[in-house]
Amino acid sequence: MKRPISIGVIGCGYWGPLLIRNFKILQDCRLKAVCDVSGARLKHIKELYPDVECVTDYQRLFNESSVDAVVIATPVKFHHELAKAGLLAGKHVFIEKPMALSSAECEELIEIAQNNGLVLMVDHTYLYSAPVRKIVEIVEAGDIGDIRYINSRRLNLGLFQKDINVAWDLAPHDISIILHILGELPLTVNCQGNAHVTPKIEDVTNMSMLFRHKRFATIQSSWLEPRKVREMTIVGTRRMIVYDDLQTHEKIKVYDVRVERPPHYDTFAEFQYSYHYGDSYIPHIHQEEPLKMACQHFVDCIATGAVPITSGREGLEMIQILEAASTSLRANCAPVMLTRTEPRISQSQQGLRVVSETPQIGGKSATL
Ligand SMILES: NC(=O)c1ccc[n+]([C@@H]2O[C@H](COP(=O)([O-])OP(=O)(O)OC[C@H]3O[C@@H](n4cnc5c(N)ncnc54)[C@H](O)[C@@H]3O)[C@@H](O)[C@H]2O)c1
Repeated sequence: MKRPISIGVIGCGYWGPLLIRNFKILQDCRLKAVCDVSGARLKHIKELYPDVECVTDYQRLFNESSVDAVVIATPVKFHHELAKAGLLAGKHVFIEKPMALSSAECEELIEIAQNNGLVLMVDHTYLYSAPVRKIVEIVEAGDIGDIRYINSRRLNLGLFQKDINVAWDLAPHDISIILHILGELPLTVNCQGNAHVTPKIEDVTNMSMLFRHKRFATIQSSWLEPRKVREMTIVGTRRMIVYDDLQTHEKIKVYDVRVERPPHYDTFAEFQYSYHYGDSYIPHIHQEEPLKMACQHFVDCIATGAVPITSGREGLEMIQILEAASTSLRANCAPVMLTRTEPRISQSQQGLRVVSETPQIGGKSATL
């Protein structure tokens, strides 16, 4: 019989305990130890799980030969240092989003993981959620026609981060969903925002991403809203989908509405838009905790050697988009082209600030 995969979790603040709970209940894996620099957080975990070893120095996890994999749920500024040390110690690594603070850091982690045959997974949690998988299924079946645009709003009061702005904190959820639905990376990114509370850390941002065929997506992120909003609208040529993640059961609604222009007309009197109002419906979704699915996927990838749906590559693509957004923020919302190398100012592109190729996403769909 195969030995269960032994896991260590680093970071027991807000998100870490959710990861700990999920890894604790998964079969084929054993939560060996947790680490936090805060004794108070470790005390809390020890009360919940008395059998789990608690340490304050992450090196103890990396030096422990019986630990196969580490899960990193610290503030983003520590992701690269911890993941690099973990990979170099021969551990598979699961990193919370966003993967790191720069694409150079991500590229280094991807290279070390590849050279050592280790699984590197980034937690883009929503791609493991049933509503997002259902939306992708509906879109891929052609039910809504061609996508015209996607609009997403993720707003609430706090939690204010100290090392990243609200776009880096909240927009990764929307970006990962949008890239997965559209199956490609954007050509350009624009972002505007303001830092109202903490100097230089934007707490409100509006990002837009332009894709091929004039398709675009807008993402509004805020830590300064009185109401919590988690809403995405996907507008197709035939139907439209509204995804409200705060609904308990009816998270997705498909509206059979569209507007069409007459194919031709001779006089102004003949010209009329045709509005179509059909039935709307709520697809049944079998709810499962997305984080549990993500944790299970990590364990499965270690066991089988499969590449995660949200591997280091997807983590890197996310950081490239966030870097482009930060460049645009500093350039008064100018459009910034995605780049796989060092960003450089374009001389030839009108109004575009960074040059690059347009990489495609590998056409993978979440089949968990
Ligand atoms: N996937 C999601 O939906 C989701 C949701 C929330 C947060 N996150 C991500 O989870 C990560 C953690 O966020 P959080 O809100 O839990 O942060 P947090 O500040 O609440 O917790 C971080 C913990 O890490 C500990 N820590 C810091 N440096 C350490 C080190 N060197 N060694 C050991 N422990 C260390 C801190 O003491 C703290 O307890 C972030 O990357 C965040 O973006 C993801």
